Amino acid sequence: MPDREIEPPLWEQWEAAGTRPADALTNVRPDLPQGDRLQKVLARLGYGSRRSCEEMISAGRVTVDGVVATLGRRIDVDSATVEVDGVPVSVKPGLVYYLLNKPRGVVSTASDPQGRRTVVEMVPPEPRVFPVGRLDTDTEGLLLLTNDGAITHRLTHPSFGVEKEYLAEVQGTPTPASLRRLREGVDLDDGRTSPARASLDPPHLLSITIHEGRNRQVRRMCEAIGHPVQRLVRVRIGPIADRKLKPGQWRALTQAEVQALQAAVRPLPGSG
Ligand code: URA
Repeated sequence: MPDREIEPPLWEQWEAAGTRPADALTNVRPDLPQGDRLQKVLARLGYGSRRSCEEMISAGRVTVDGVVATLGRRIDVDSATVEVDGVPVSVKPGLVYYLLNKPRGVVSTASDPQGRRTVVEMVPPEPRVFPVGRLDTDTEGLLLLTNDGAITHRLTHPSFGVEKEYLAEVQGTPTPASLRRLREGVDLDDGRTSPARASLDPPHLLSITIHEGRNRQVRRMCEAIGHPVQRLVRVRIGPIADRKLKPGQWRALTQAEVQALQAAVRPLPGSG
């Protein structure tokens, strides 16, 4: 049997290359760049080719931790705060964003003491996600679930005023005067509501768009104008809508949808 060709030990290869293993392990030079290249991170997130992301950086449109980034910048994706055109970008790996069409009867909390089915049980168990805000148990429609705490905070905080659109099947047929009340604001026991957008598809179907998130708000608004809700479905959250997703179905948001959501919760100029 011919002798097997024996490769020189790794040690010798390192010696030949001028870098001994001890050096390779211990010589982490603090001046060497660390982290991922910014254009690579942005391209991975769908902001365009690496070349066009480089152009965005060169044009001064990207900040890292509040400072305008320059080309060649590397970032630690676990800790950096990145914004493109003032819109925060979720660069942290492992963030997931799901859109669920919640069926009636399913609770919007992470667990239910009464043992009812929860929205969290309807999406993959790992990584653990939480619902962004709530829908009443008897309300159906679109609900976001994510492990991105920053966007959850912004989407649920009233100061960001993200629009939510509902279709409500109501008792009776609202008159133009009742629709005007919805548009101008309705007095509820926790105060007057902000003006809503409201239109009627006769005889019973109301489309209502609000940007507050009070408890059972749409139901109480309809009750207040004398047309209690029989069925309530949320059909849009800010820029996110999906008429094809059936009750009980979920899907991951596209990168473009995540970006649109980030843009929808960008602070208004001058709001600090
Ligand atoms: N308004 C309601 O009345 N219920 C919901 O679930 C959401 C908005």
